[in-house]
Amino acid sequence: MSKIIVTGGCGYIGSHTVIALIDQGYKVVVFDDFSNASEDTLDRIAKITGIRPLFTRVDLKEKIKVLEAFNEHKEAKAVIHFAAYKAVKESINNPLDYYENNLFSLINVLNAQQAVGINNFIFSSSATVYGMPESFPMTENSPVKRPFSPYGNTKKIAEEILEDYTNANTKLSFISLRYFNPIGAHDSGHIGELPSGIPNNLMPYITQTAAGLRDKLWVFGDDYPTKDGTAVRDYIHVVDLAEAHLAALQYLMKNQQKANYEIYNLGTGQGYSVLEVIKSFELANNLRLNYEITSRREGDVAVMYASTDLAKQVLGWSAKRDLKSMVASAWKWEQNFRK
Ligand code: UD1
Repeated sequence: MSKIIVTGGCGYIGSHTVIALIDQGYKVVVFDDFSNASEDTLDRIAKITGIRPLFTRVDLKEKIKVLEAFNEHKEAKAVIHFAAYKAVKESINNPLDYYENNLFSLINVLNAQQAVGINNFIFSSSATVYGMPESFPMTENSPVKRPFSPYGNTKKIAEEILEDYTNANTKLSFISLRYFNPIGAHDSGHIGELPSGIPNNLMPYITQTAAGLRDKLWVFGDDYPTKDGTAVRDYIHVVDLAEAHLAALQYLMKNQQKANYEIYNLGTGQGYSVLEVIKSFELANNLRLNYEITSRREGDVAVMYASTDLAKQVLGWSAKRDLKSMVASAWKWEQNFRK
């Protein structure tokens, strides 16, 4: 039973991935500081899987503490690094917090894993590194551009750090996964997205509006060059995303890499407009959502969806769950959580 270290394992994508790992028989160690996650996520994971992951509370900005934490789990075979700040608006207001947290943490984790001799590493990147794209779908070879937000830029810089680092250390096996728009929740309804404060992202704003926490959903722009004028994204079920991490991990563990740093898009390859997501949510959950069109949000792109060929060919993974399953599970989680 290989041991895997998961930083940010109590967060939204991290917790779903921890469940997928435990279900496959991995022994999981979670590093988290609960800066944007809840401690009872560990209990929820235990409720779902029957196994409580090992846990160390550690602020990854603290170099010595990170080294100590890694020293306790030297025998781990891989690190999946989710821990990072992720709120776009907050990053525009506090850019230094974002650069400090997301990049110092990454560097401390890389140093610590090198010190204890762990060579396999999976990084949470984002489609935001494609910036304002000119053609679709986005392939892994599409140009990377300066993202609009400091949050996005931390992902771009992190990828550059990983590229330089793996160039200098050929025994390393690293993967960056570029997520498109993760939504939805675990089927059990016991874990899901837990945004702090007013959500920035579409799905939690929809579920909180349906739950009566928000008056109405504002649809940002209906004058995009898309079929109904609202912006198009590649929404992916968080459980599919978790399974992609498993596929990437198994690929690393079998030493199948051609290069020691590889990058994969994680999306469905299918774009949906904001209005399509709203309609799907209403239909799947048999309710009406109060929404109104307003002006575009600064920094938003009209259309973004993935080419999923590479992940399919190389990792043998593709997304299985449809939009209905995404919006239904998101609503189930919101209702369960409010109870
Ligand atoms: C955003 C971030 C991206 C980050 C991703 C993480 C921006 C510009 N980009 O992507 O860097 O990696 O979240 O999940 O913020 N929408 C509304 N009303 C709302 C909220 C959203 O109409 O209240 C629309 C947006 O205009 C967009 C779509 O819904 O067209 C999806 O928005 P969102 O969930 O915020 O994701 P992205 O903007 O694609």
